[in-house]
Amino acid sequence: SEIYLQGMGGVLPPFTTDSCALEQAAREALEPGPFWYVAGAAGSGATNRANREAFDRWRLVPRMLTGATDRDLGTTVLGERLRAPIITAPIGVQSIVHPEAEKAVAAVAAELGLAMALSTVSSFCLEDVAAANGDGVRWFQLYWPNDEQVCLSLLARAKAAGFTTLVVTLDTWLLGWRPHDLDRAYLPFLTGEGLANYFTDPAFCAPLDKPPAEDLPAALMRWLPVFSGVDHTWDQVAFLRENWDGPVVLKGIQHVDDARRALDCGVQGIVVSNHGGRQVDGAIASLDALPAIADAVGDSLEVLFDSGVRTGADILKALALGARAVLVGRPWVYGLALGGTAGVRHVLRSLLADLDLALALSGHASAAGLGRDALQPH
Ligand code: FNR
Repeated sequence: SEIYLQGMGGVLPPFTTDSCALEQAAREALEPGPFWYVAGAAGSGATNRANREAFDRWRLVPRMLTGATDRDLGTTVLGERLRAPIITAPIGVQSIVHPEAEKAVAAVAAELGLAMALSTVSSFCLEDVAAANGDGVRWFQLYWPNDEQVCLSLLARAKAAGFTTLVVTLDTWLLGWRPHDLDRAYLPFLTGEGLANYFTDPAFCAPLDKPPAEDLPAALMRWLPVFSGVDHTWDQVAFLRENWDGPVVLKGIQHVDDARRALDCGVQGIVVSNHGGRQVDGAIASLDALPAIADAVGDSLEVLFDSGVRTGADILKALALGARAVLVGRPWVYGLALGGTAGVRHVLRSLLADLDLALALSGHASAAGLGRDALQPH
């Protein structure tokens, strides 16, 4: 309605609503380092492109006269009611693109009734982001630290700050080969509190001679081996389950056997994800992994999906292929780059409207009830 009414009055939305144009607008607004930090992918970008191409291999089959006048986009994910099956993906160091960073998405997600997932490497500390999120639904994403005390401290802080679900990212124990990041520096653009969750953490700071702000090189030397370089094993997942009072979700699953292992080790959910094509160049499209995984474990685990979701139709396709909800990454980060909180709001509201219209015009009244008969392979 807003689009019709404002459009007739010659008033356009504040930013583009086209997902390709959005990326282009962010490219024009940002310095190359920050832009490519967001847009970049592993290696040749083959997996990033494959993520998009996979959506094109499925087509919606619209149904008519189904009485879809009143629609319900809502769904329940891991026991929490969301207004739509959309979760903002964990995105690290957002102050590289805008000083409002994680506080902007925290406020907008709460306002729109969506869940947010906060990255371990956020540029504001998790307590401040929780305050910006108010009574919203917030999850904490863990880059599994190679230091037990730091790990326990982060989990305790996240729990105390009202984060309900723990999302453990498995695919980034080393950073992928990202030529865009090597060709252009982006960390100099980081503002705010730097690697805030670590630099404010008592267990992280304990062995340091000086606070991180007074000796950044020493803090970074401590951070790197805590953050990266050690591959954990399936039997260690029990440690996280035992030390987190709430649902645990494993992010980065692409193989059906790994989905089964996740089920065996007692977690509540998985995210079928290839990190937006940023880790293994030449890997399969995330959407191509989804149907078999949903068939194998979808009755016992909550299966979430990400990598490549850009439109309402994409969300319908992922739901029809077995996802309970999707995580969305780059699009709202471009919105953040363009207009801070207003930009994030614009992108997420547009996605909600697009989803609602795609659902309605395909003849469905409820996002939660979609099955594979809503699609045809192309
Ligand atoms: C990410 N992603 C990510 N994942 C995670 O678990 N922790 C993190 O800190 C980050 N940081 C991050 C930064 C940037 C700039 C991007 C683009 C991505 C991955 C993210 O959560 C998600 O899996 C992908 O972004 C999904 O793909 P799309 O929606 O961007 O195509």
